[in-house]
Formats: sequence, C-alpha cells, structure tokens
Amino acid sequence: MLSKSCQQVHELNFSDVESEVLTLLSRMTIEEKIGQMSQLSGDGCIVSKNLRKAIIAGHVGSILNEVDLDTINELQRIAIQESRLGIPLLIGRDVIHGFNTIFPIPLAQAATWSPKIVERCAKIAAIESSSSGINWTFAPMIDIARDPRWGRIAESLGEDPYLCKTLANSMVKGFQGDSLSDTNSIAACAKHFAGYGASEGGKDYNTTNIPENELRNVYLPPFKAIAESGVATFMASFSDLNGVPVTGNNWLLTTVLRDEWNYSGPVVSDWEAVPQLVIHGFAFDDYDAAGKACTAGIDMEMASDCYLKHMKHLMNNNVISLDKIDSVVKRILTLKFNLGLFESAITSPNQPSNSLNTDHLSIAKEAVIKSCVLLKNDNQILPIAKSAINTLAVIGPLADDGYEQMGTWAFDGKENQSHTCLNALKEVAKNAFNINYAVGMETTRCNHHDGFAEAIDTAINADIALMFLGEEAILSGEAHCRSSIDLPGAQEQLINVIHATGTPIILVIMAGRPITLEKIISKVDAILFAWHPGTMAGPAITDLLFGVESPSGKLPVTFPRTVGQIPLYYAQKNSGRPPIDEKYINIDNIKMRAPQTSFGMTSTYLDTHFSPLFPFGFGLSYSQFCYTKIKLNNKVIPMGGAVEVSATINNVGNYNAEEVVQLYIRDIVGNVTRPIKELKGFQRITLGKGESMVVTFKLHTDELAFYNQQMEYKPEAGLFHVWIGGDSSTTLKTEFEVTD
Ligand code: GLC
Repeated sequence: MLSKSCQQVHELNFSDVESEVLTLLSRMTIEEKIGQMSQLSGDGCIVSKNLRKAIIAGHVGSILNEVDLDTINELQRIAIQESRLGIPLLIGRDVIHGFNTIFPIPLAQAATWSPKIVERCAKIAAIESSSSGINWTFAPMIDIARDPRWGRIAESLGEDPYLCKTLANSMVKGFQGDSLSDTNSIAACAKHFAGYGASEGGKDYNTTNIPENELRNVYLPPFKAIAESGVATFMASFSDLNGVPVTGNNWLLTTVLRDEWNYSGPVVSDWEAVPQLVIHGFAFDDYDAAGKACTAGIDMEMASDCYLKHMKHLMNNNVISLDKIDSVVKRILTLKFNLGLFESAITSPNQPSNSLNTDHLSIAKEAVIKSCVLLKNDNQILPIAKSAINTLAVIGPLADDGYEQMGTWAFDGKENQSHTCLNALKEVAKNAFNINYAVGMETTRCNHHDGFAEAIDTAINADIALMFLGEEAILSGEAHCRSSIDLPGAQEQLINVIHATGTPIILVIMAGRPITLEKIISKVDAILFAWHPGTMAGPAITDLLFGVESPSGKLPVTFPRTVGQIPLYYAQKNSGRPPIDEKYINIDNIKMRAPQTSFGMTSTYLDTHFSPLFPFGFGLSYSQFCYTKIKLNNKVIPMGGAVEVSATINNVGNYNAEEVVQLYIRDIVGNVTRPIKELKGFQRITLGKGESMVVTFKLHTDELAFYNQQMEYKPEAGLFHVWIGGDSSTTLKTEFEVTD
C-alpha cells in the first residue's frame, strides 16, 4: 500500500509525509477522494452492514460518536484490510471537559485563570479517550461569549479574547501533546469558527451580525492564536455571519483562514451544517449546498451525505475542480499521517486509560478547587469551623446528584463515579457534627413548594443552612438557551423561606452560565459559584467550605444584575456619554414631571444600576489582598519597545491563599474606539498571610495592536492607562506614552 514499510512511516518527517500523501493521492479514485471528505456517525457499539459496506468502498474518511474500543478497532480493521487502499479512519468525539473523568465545564476551567490546570485536564482527557480509540476531539470551543442567555457559554472560555486565547493554547497543548503521533495525543479542533457567540438574542444557531473590525478585534484572535500554535483542525460554525452562513463563507474559510493566516489543517463542518445551507436560504438544494460549502472551504462534511451524493456531479459540471478536491484530501491524509494512523490505527486493549485513577481524580479535584468563585462571604461565615457547629442543614436538589454536577457535554462521564457534595460532607461530619438533609425541590425547575416544609424544619434546627442550587446540566449547552437567567423554578422562594428561619445561609450554585442573583443576594450570607464542577465536586467543594483550601477562582464572564443589561461585558467602549455613578437616579426617585434633561443624559438605565453585579475577573478569597504602589520602569516607550509595570500585593488577611493578579490597559485615542479596559496579562500567585510580593508584567508595544479602520493590525502611538488589580474594576492605575 505504501512506498515505505509501516515502521519507516513512523520516522516520516514533513517532506516524507508530503511525498507519502502525494503517492497515495495519485492512486486514489475520485470516489475514494470524495469518501475521505465524509464523516459519518457511528451506530453505537455495532458495525452496521451499511457502514461496513461504505468503509470497504472507501466512502468514509471519519466516524464520530463511536467510543467502544472493540467497535472502533473493527472499523479501523475494515478500513485498513478490506478497503482497496487501506486508509485508516479519523475517530472523532466531543471530549469537551474530560472523557470518563469529568473536569469542570470549560467556563469553569476558564475561572481558574490557570493555563497549567487547563493543559493538565486536556492531557488526561486525551489519555483516557485515546485508549478507547478516539484520535480527534471537537475541542477547544473558543467562541467569545458575552451573552449568558446563550446555553453554549458553558462550553466557552468566557468573554475575553486574551484569557480565551491563552487558555485555548493550553488546552490544545494538552490534547495534542508534543507530537500528534504520540500514543496519548489526539487532534484538537478550534470551534466554532467564527462569531457564534454573538447569536442574536442569546438564541443558539441564530443570526450573527458582527462588523469586520469587531470580528477581527474580538472574535478571531483566539482562533488565530491556536491556528498559529498548531491546532490540528478547525470546525465551521452553524451560524449566519453577516448574511453569509459560515459553512458557505469564502471570506472567512478561505480569504482569512487560508490566505491570510496560511492555516493548513482540515476544516470540518458542524453537524449537518452543509444541507442546512438550504434551510438558511443560501442554497437551492443539497447539490448547491455541497458546491457552496466545498468552494468556501469545508473539507469534511459531518453527519450528512451531500458530498457523497453530489461531489462527482459538481466536478462533472465544473463547479468543483479536481485540484480543489486534491487540496482538500491532501489536508485530510496529512492529518492521518501526522497522527501516525498509517503506522498503527488499531488501539491496543492494553493501552492504559487510567480512567478515573487517583492521579486523574486528584487533578480533577484541584481544577474544581481553583475554578470555584467566592462571590460573597459576609462576616467571614466561610470557612465553616467544624468545632463551631453541631448541626448542618444540607438543602437542595444539587447536593447529591452525580449526574447533574457533571454538566453539559459529559457524554462519557460515569455518574456512578461522581463524588457528590452530600457524600463528601458526611465524610467530613463524621464524629464532628450532624447533617440533616432535605432536598427541598425534586428538580431545580420545580415550581411547587411540597418540599419546603421539610427544608424549613431542617434549617430551623441547624447552625447553618448549606444550600446547593442552580441549574440542571440540561439547562445549558447546545440549543439550551434561557430568556431569563434567574435561578429556575421556585429556588428563589426556597431561599426566602430558609432565610425567614433566621439560620445563616451558605449558597453553593452549580450552573452552566452566570445567574442573575440580585433578588436573593441579600438573603444569603455567602455564595460559592461552582459552575458544573464534574466528577470531583464533593471533595473539592467540601475542602473549600471547611477552609482546607481558600477559593481563588476569578470570573471569566461578567455577572449582570438583570437579563435586561445583556450584552454586558467589562471591555465596553466608552461611548460619548458614559455612565456616571453620581448621576445614577433610581426610577423610584424620579419626581413627577421632572424636566426631561434634569438628571443627566448618560448611557445608563432608569431601573437598574448600569454596573454588573459582579465584574469580569472578580473573585473573593478567605484572605484579603491589598494592591499598592503601581510603578513603571519608563513613562515613555518608543514604538517597538516594552514597558515593565509592577505593583505590590499584600496578603493582609489570616489565610495563606492564591490570587490572580490582572493587568489591564486602555488606549485612550485610537483610529477606531478602543475598550475602556483590556486584559493584557495575569499571574496566579501564592502569598502567605502577612506576606507581600511585587508582581511585574512586561508589555511590548506589539501587544497594544488592534485592527484599525483600514483593517491594518498595528499599535498606535499615544497615551495609555494601565491598571493592576484583582478584577476588572480595579482603580490602581498609572499611565505611559508610546512615541512613534
Ligand atoms: C454539535 C455541535 C458541535 C459538536 C458536533 C459533534 O452540533 O455544534 O460543537 O462538536 O455537533 O457532536
């Protein structure tokens, strides 16, 4: 089959791969070439007659959603031994935040602000999934998400391009390792290219209208970053981008991705997105859709068969050229060679998965500990001192649900392997204090109050009411968007009746998105936001609640006061009439017949304060950190130079703790308006109580670049403000000037 022996294939370097690909390509029929461009869904642990036939005929390049090792090995065997050219298969799966060991959802991993943790989680996911024969994951999802109504915010790395691209690089490194051909490496996939997070109304699959300047300055940077650092594949978004659905968008998939970025990996469509071009009203029929998608730059069609059915006709009608097909198939074959599939596509049953072993669980626990965000902690009610309580009331539908705590896209998680909070609390309580548990509500969406009496009774007889509320996993993720982002069901009422007992409330929230908490925040003494924490929720959250660890997570997304504020994000433009705190007038204080301009004309609301409830980058610790003495090594920097910005951080609290120190800038005047703050650096530090540290950031003028009116990417001379702080509302500021 190959001009070299299998063993020699392993030593292939780039030019070898290129020549092997060309040799193989020269021997392929057009049907076999088109077959490589088709990804079909598995049949779930069996190899159907049709699938067997299609593989033997060379009509399948990839299978997705098959996870049984024996089945996958049989599929690979058929491809290698029974098809004419023996081309192995790409085996794809959504390994989004873990395989069997489920880590916190990506939005939670973003809250760790830890590239190291994100990389470790991805590495373990690759080890576990590759041992099942999977060699391609459809992750990282790096859509910038600024609308928490959108269910897929749960899968994202948040609202900020800098944080997103930094963590995306780490996730890709974790999945792909040092070499794609390593046993435990799997190909990663940058998705959903691009702008999907701007779906109008926060409704999934909806229209996106993003001016090119905004697209290039906000939505594209994470994709460009990992395209440059070697992500193996891309996935096109479902969405209609400025009137041209991405699946048929030549500008995005060819002009930007190929011509400008010179990206060489394959691009896969999203699920049945090719025939959906007809539904968009962008293609007349599947034949037209196949032609438009392939022309635009979709190399492989996921789950539908427009390419299989129509590509040959498109070629005969000169809509698609043989050169185009060859360039597409070369990319797919190159990936297969780079993955080492021609050397060995069969996965040994003895390949250790280490699924859910102690090391994997220990990393999972650390990820939860570092991702939880402490939003409120009145009177330092947290951490709980075991000696100070006799009875703890545990209330809520998410205290003991090993399935829901895994969150969305946890297809291969094992619910029975989840460590729930209630079980972990019972371990801690042994011989120390009593636990009384009341579920309060069967589900988070339950609207009746049947369980309230028991919950009230539990709380009345307890020193603290520990409530586990939030959203079930199904309430976020793909196609699961909400027009309200309050706590669902009667949860707010449940909080009110427990509050009325007078027992202090510690609220742990598990959710796949920011929740609007303004109506209940005064009723609880502390809030620990745990997102959907995955397998190790219990041990991690318990360690935080009892002070074994101090919370250090920071919000990767803004938490609005009300859904009416959306879109609300820290890196807003200033507008010509920015909101002014002193000018804020509550609607209830407006005098009748007040003159129209009597209380200022600024960008604000009459019925809600314009600020978020919790800003991007926010997160409390059990200790307190004091930021002082921001300094520059130079006040004036020549273009092409760099400035060092530092500040002193003091741990003035009573705990040894970690803190994420953040660096923000503002370009005061630009060829296009620039955000009032932009994250340009962060460092996670550890400080013992009473200790202080000088944290320094180095900022090169290249990092001040942006796309201007002429779509040129470059920094501009002028005045810059610079802040260092523990969240995006920091006021510790200085300024420097960049000179041409
Ligand atoms: C889904 C999602 C995409 C996923 C793919 C395969 O519809 O949009 O993120 O990777 O199909 O499951």
